[in-house]
Amino acid sequence: MKKKKNTSANDNFAAKCKVKKVGILTGGGDCPGLNAVIRAVTKTLIGRYNVEVIGFKDGFRGLVLNQTKRLTYMTVSGILDRGGTILGSSNKDNPFHFGQMRNGRMIYSDLSRQTMQTYRKNNLDALICLGGDGTMSIANDLIKKGMNIIGVPKTIDNDLMETDRTFGFDTSVSIVTEAVDRLRTTAASHHRCLVVETMGRYAGWIALEAGIAGGADVILIPEIPFNPSLVCDVVDSRFSHHKHYTIILVAEGAKWEGGEMVVERTVKDSPDPVRLGGIGKVVATFIEESTGVESRAIVLGHVQRGGTPTAFDRVLATRYGYRAAELAAAGDFGKIVCLKGSDITEVAITRVANKCRTVPLDSPLIKAARATGTYFGNEPEIYTKKRRRKRMPVEAG
Ligand code: F6P
Repeated sequence: MKKKKNTSANDNFAAKCKVKKVGILTGGGDCPGLNAVIRAVTKTLIGRYNVEVIGFKDGFRGLVLNQTKRLTYMTVSGILDRGGTILGSSNKDNPFHFGQMRNGRMIYSDLSRQTMQTYRKNNLDALICLGGDGTMSIANDLIKKGMNIIGVPKTIDNDLMETDRTFGFDTSVSIVTEAVDRLRTTAASHHRCLVVETMGRYAGWIALEAGIAGGADVILIPEIPFNPSLVCDVVDSRFSHHKHYTIILVAEGAKWEGGEMVVERTVKDSPDPVRLGGIGKVVATFIEESTGVESRAIVLGHVQRGGTPTAFDRVLATRYGYRAAELAAAGDFGKIVCLKGSDITEVAITRVANKCRTVPLDSPLIKAARATGTYFGNEPEIYTKKRRRKRMPVEAG
């Protein structure tokens, strides 16, 4: 009798697979969940499709300079819960405007042709890029040069178009919320106004969600320019209602009416050179000088991007990584995976590149926050009766 061939399910998957070798890179600022995506992509491609996987080090820098790391089941084992990225990342290196030191001077040149050579030299059939809008803009330009790319939406800022949630955002919101919980007790003990500055660039998602979760009294976001006098009125009004402390969350991109965003520094060789920061201090100083309430600014900074991803982000990252691997195996390129409601789907990268998803002014989140007593610094009708509290001396030490 003829022996029946034992065809496993994975042989069937592999037979249908359109790719043999796939690269991965992590671009832009790091965020919790990058390793979970790398793991999901690698395990799916190797385990299901028998595809070879390599990583490029430090974002597009590794792709330009051909600096690689082989990814295997072993190298991605045990990294699900690890923050950062095992590949390294960079929010500076752009193959189309690549900076290199020559004779002590930084020289910029278009190394996109060299980048395409790296891709071909490594016999890649596709590249999976984990990143935000800057990474997707570069990815889009490389697609035009003939590269097969699949995007995965990463950023704590949650500001990528076409997706309801980027991975990393949930972790960041949890970190800020925990900080607010801790700050509330010290603010109450010292009768202070604490102004917590969050990251988020031009979108207020982190401040908004952490502000709601932490029960902030005022949330200031870039989408709603604020009137600083009205913010002071909230502080005054709380004191007159025996709430002797105030918690304000201010997104780094927030600005007052007619004012500009506060820029902390510019990073010359970055695709988006502006680094925001400092509005927290400006707001705290204004409040202290106007109301006499001792005020302090707390800048959470890169703490918001560090450490272990939440369970939500690990699950989301795993679902994104799995879907990106499936798209690669199907030869369905030029797409970015995204979350719509509770479903993972994908759209063309062109719909995401060079765009920013800010908080809509009619967001249900803003409505819920207002309904539960949070102000956004633009509600004049609330403060018809101004009550200035007696100045409290600023405590020493
Ligand atoms: O995009 C992520 C982000 O953390 C922003 O929220 C912040 O404005 C920026 O990156 C900070 O960049 P860097 O790591 O270069 O200071």
